[in-house]
Amino acid sequence: MIEFRDIIYSIDGRRILSDVSFVVGEGETRVILGPSGSGKSTILRLLLGLVRPDSGAILVGGEDLTRVNEERMRQVRQMIGMVFQQGALFDSMTVAENVGFSLLEHEHTDEDEVERRVRETLRQVGLAEDLVDRMPDELSGGMQRRVAIARALAARDPRILLYDEPTTGLDPQAAQRITDLILHLRDAYGKTSLMVTHDIADAYKVGNCMTLLHEGRVVFDGDPGDLDRAESPVVNEFLAPFRSAVALAAQRISTGVPASRAPRPPSAPFSPGGTP
Ligand SMILES: Nc1ncnc2c1ncn2[C@@H]1O[C@H](COP(=O)(O)OP(=O)(O)OP(=O)(O)O)[C@@H](O)[C@H]1O
Ligand SMILES: [Mg+2]
Repeated sequence: MIEFRDIIYSIDGRRILSDVSFVVGEGETRVILGPSGSGKSTILRLLLGLVRPDSGAILVGGEDLTRVNEERMRQVRQMIGMVFQQGALFDSMTVAENVGFSLLEHEHTDEDEVERRVRETLRQVGLAEDLVDRMPDELSGGMQRRVAIARALAARDPRILLYDEPTTGLDPQAAQRITDLILHLRDAYGKTSLMVTHDIADAYKVGNCMTLLHEGRVVFDGDPGDLDRAESPVVNEFLAPFRSAVALAAQRISTGVPASRAPRPPSAPFSPGGTP
């Protein structure tokens, strides 16, 4: 369904991505992992055609997006729903306006149809329909993230969903409900997805396959189960904080030290900012 083939991308002569290749099969979720600045969001921007690569091919349903004109790219975008990093919503618009935004952009919009679609997508993401008139700042962080997902779904019944850090900044319970929703959209509606994250737990939960990026290069591509067994120093370095958190938790269980008195594990296994 989606294929990146030997993508090279630079900004002002500075190499951002080098020889990036991967495939996402129909109905699969590929997780893109990597430290801050490794090029994760750039991959989504390339897929949306917001920026163009120096070389390589980006295939969607067999069509090379690096060769299509802007008009065709606009059509392709209609089958891609994007959940932006931090779930960015328009602060000055109601929930309904945020979710219906891409539909309202088109001419000849039937307002009843938009309202029906807004309510339908709110239901799909597990939000009450009567939230339509609320403003984003009247919602919890988890609800805002759901609205962002509803907005991506409302687009044109997209077959591809892109999520950029969909759980960052949420408490563990809210984060879990968002990853449950992402799994539900994959399994109940067969959406093909790319999810960018630096959270290894989310990655294992929703990914069928994983790409680990390091300084714009793919250093791992494979099944989630193989990541832990990969014998690459860069993969080990990436997994180290997570492993030490798990080891500490296991030690606490075996010695019976209450969590409140045990030394704190690193708060976020892969917090952004890990790499220059
Ligand atoms: N418009 C731009 N101009 C210059 N450099 C840019 C631009 N956009 C991205 N970059 C650079 O490209 C690299 C990759 O950025 P990208 O946003 O893809 O990282 P990321 O992996 O998503 O990081 P994060 O986890 O912090 O979101 C970074 O070094 C960034 O500074
Ligand atoms: Mg990013």
